Amino acid sequence: MAATDLERFSNEEKRNLSLGGHVGFDSLPDQLVSKSVTQGFSFNILCVGETGIGKSTLMNTLFNTTFETEEASHYESAVRLRPRTYDLQESNVHLKLTIVDAVGFGDQINKDESYRPIVEYIDTQFENYLQEELKIRRSLFNYHDTRIHVCLYFITPTGHSLKSLDLVTMKKLDSKVNIIPIIAKADTISKSELHKFKIKIMSELVSNGVQIYQFPTDDEAVAEINSVMNAHLPFAVVGSTEEVKVGNKLVRARQYPWGVVQVENESHCDFVKLREMLIRVNMEDLREQTHTRHYELYRRCKLEEMGFKDTDPDNQPFSLQETYETKRKEFLGELQRKEEEMRQMFVNKVKETEAELKEKERELHEKFEHLKRIHQEEKRKVEEKRKELEEEMNAFNRRKVAVETLQSQSLQATSQQPLKKDKDKKNFFSLPSAYSITTGRYVN
Ligand code: GTP
Ligand code: MG
Repeated sequence: MAATDLERFSNEEKRNLSLGGHVGFDSLPDQLVSKSVTQGFSFNILCVGETGIGKSTLMNTLFNTTFETEEASHYESAVRLRPRTYDLQESNVHLKLTIVDAVGFGDQINKDESYRPIVEYIDTQFENYLQEELKIRRSLFNYHDTRIHVCLYFITPTGHSLKSLDLVTMKKLDSKVNIIPIIAKADTISKSELHKFKIKIMSELVSNGVQIYQFPTDDEAVAEINSVMNAHLPFAVVGSTEEVKVGNKLVRARQYPWGVVQVENESHCDFVKLREMLIRVNMEDLREQTHTRHYELYRRCKLEEMGFKDTDPDNQPFSLQETYETKRKEFLGELQRKEEEMRQMFVNKVKETEAELKEKERELHEKFEHLKRIHQEEKRKVEEKRKELEEEMNAFNRRKVAVETLQSQSLQATSQQPLKKDKDKKNFFSLPSAYSITTGRYVN
């Protein structure tokens, strides 16, 4: 089709036509329902709130079952996310429910980083989904979607105001997940205090720019109830798995010495409102908002970070192929630059080492020459000394021979003239008794 034909076709006004008889596409909604029922649904709830605030009890109460009974540890060094998945069935509808607990939230002395593991967990689920989407062989049909659809934020019923930890955490989460704030253990706060507390919480959320989930009012069927419920936020809830007899009926309640708090009594708490809004009316909207708003934002930021764009600087559509080519060129260029840098670094290093080695060699050579000179000098001195000693020895030997000759002559003379004069005797015995090597003379 030529470009002009295409333009005319897309600019053409749509005409309304009536059908001559039954065609059958009115069964499309039924087809969708039946397909969804066969596939089943997944719904993932994140519970954030202090240890012991009543998270597990509320989950058990909401789904009318017992998920967990064990207490979480109060001694975690950091917040840890603990997901648990359950298969539930009501009529013929299957629900794969994942409840994620922020274990240890609020238990650390330094709470500055408490929000971080929660944000990271949410991002990881988005990342996993994105990776699945980007695969060549995708299997989104049977992919277990673990993206968080709703965060129930449990507020401690202090009656005063939100803690800074609550504000910081909700602020960090509001662009990533649908937040429904709830006042936990609402039976521990009086009715008038609760009313004021709700107003205070909402005004604090607004003044700190925290976006909480608003029940949608664009669908006529639920617009009215949703707008009424939006005005009731945050819901003040009571959880209990205990059953108490009220009249002749067994109801879920908390029994106190002064009376009974009925979980499903709307004049006692907002539990029914929460269940109605979360499960019966807006579950699909929560799933949809997660996909179209929060995941979309994550995906957009992530792809932009990777260099993908929708339009080029001239506002022309950017094709994936072009983006890939540009990125590839950038990458190769960068690789070449890095290679060149490394090569240069290597050459410089070799030069430096060579120079260092040469310097060391020169120093060694100098040292060797110096030692050699000292050695020669020493050798020369020793040689001189040796010569001196030799001369002295020769002189000594000559004298020794002379003395011996003299002695033998004297002895001969004595034997021929036994009676010699005293004077001669004296001369003979007064011969030197020792010879000094240093002076080369005989000493008495
Ligand atoms: P961890 O998982 O250990 O962090 O605790 P949790 O937040 O799951 O609290 P859990 O549901 O285990 O409840 C802790 C205690 O609070 C239990 O003794 C519950 O009976 C009690 N509790 C739960 N919900 C309520 C409530 O609505 N009102 C009151 N007064 N007590 C409650
Ligand atoms: Mg628990």
